[in-house]
Amino acid sequence: MTDKTVLPTDENIRAAARAISDGGLVVFPTETVYGIGADAASPAAVRRIFEAKGRPSDNPLIVHVADHDDVSRLAEVTDTARRLMETFWPGPLSIVLTTRGGIPDIVTAGLSTAAFRMPRNEIALALIRASGVPIAAPSANKSGRPSPTDAASALLDVGSWVEMVLDGGRTGIGLESTVVDATGSRAVVLREGGVSREMLEKVVQTAGADEMTDVRRSPGTRHRHYAPTVPVMLWSGGDIAVESDRWSFIGMAEPPLEWGVPVVRRLFGGVDEYARELFFSLREFEIVSDIIIAELPDSSGIGAALRDRLERAAAKS
Ligand code: TXA
Ligand code: MG
Repeated sequence: MTDKTVLPTDENIRAAARAISDGGLVVFPTETVYGIGADAASPAAVRRIFEAKGRPSDNPLIVHVADHDDVSRLAEVTDTARRLMETFWPGPLSIVLTTRGGIPDIVTAGLSTAAFRMPRNEIALALIRASGVPIAAPSANKSGRPSPTDAASALLDVGSWVEMVLDGGRTGIGLESTVVDATGSRAVVLREGGVSREMLEKVVQTAGADEMTDVRRSPGTRHRHYAPTVPVMLWSGGDIAVESDRWSFIGMAEPPLEWGVPVVRRLFGGVDEYARELFFSLREFEIVSDIIIAELPDSSGIGAALRDRLERAAAKS
């Protein structure tokens, strides 16, 4: 199985693009996390993505494009969306727009909208261009697991389903894109991610997701997510009872000495490094410890996305 993992040479990217055109699946890196992609126009190929992940069919996929024109063909680009695209693309922002048709129901989970993203990763962009089609791609993890931030984690979760894994090394951001609904005059953040609210607010008017009564608008947030195989306990500086000797720690501050010695711990120099290392650490620490204690950072910048992922990873159901 490991011989599916290849370096992203021009030749290998062309081979991966052919696999996509032939209805196959390919794992590829983006600046956020690794994706598992298929031709967005092929319902049969996209169905296999849902099978590979064990993903509920009511959770729509992001359509990855290599330029702005791909979006104009497929969806109604609002002024809000245009401003977001000009400012943040290529980059970690997925923009939800009303479709014009032409995107299979399996991609959109039957919604009248679709999420679009132009990634800021040369391998991903080269793959989309060489494929000649938009690529539907969720994160390349089994549904509910931490997203893969390296090729080996993706291979472990979905390797048997894909033709190839393009290995672009560790991803730079480490958390997924921000998902924003831009169908109206105000941008609504549906999922925190690589582009912070502060950054969005400099460019467009925003509204809280709580102003949206319609759950259709953020389907993915209903499901359990990012969970390692051992419990995650959140720490914000106070007293907590550590229930096992085999605990591990991730965060930016030293854990209190009274807790004793962790099996393993990783301290980060700042919130960006914490975000970049979170999913990788969860996947590593679940193997060696019985409980992962994670410091909850404050919510400025990427801290908001980091808090969201940590809270979901710690959620009991
Ligand atoms: O960084 C990322 O976004 C990565 C890389 C591979 O691009 N992809 C990713 O995809 O995280 P996924 O499928 O794991 O998350 C997509 C999120 C889900 O929460 C889904 O519900 C939401 O986007 N979404 C997709 N289409 C939507 C739509 N039409 N309306 C509202 N939310 C949508
Ligand atoms: Mg995901």
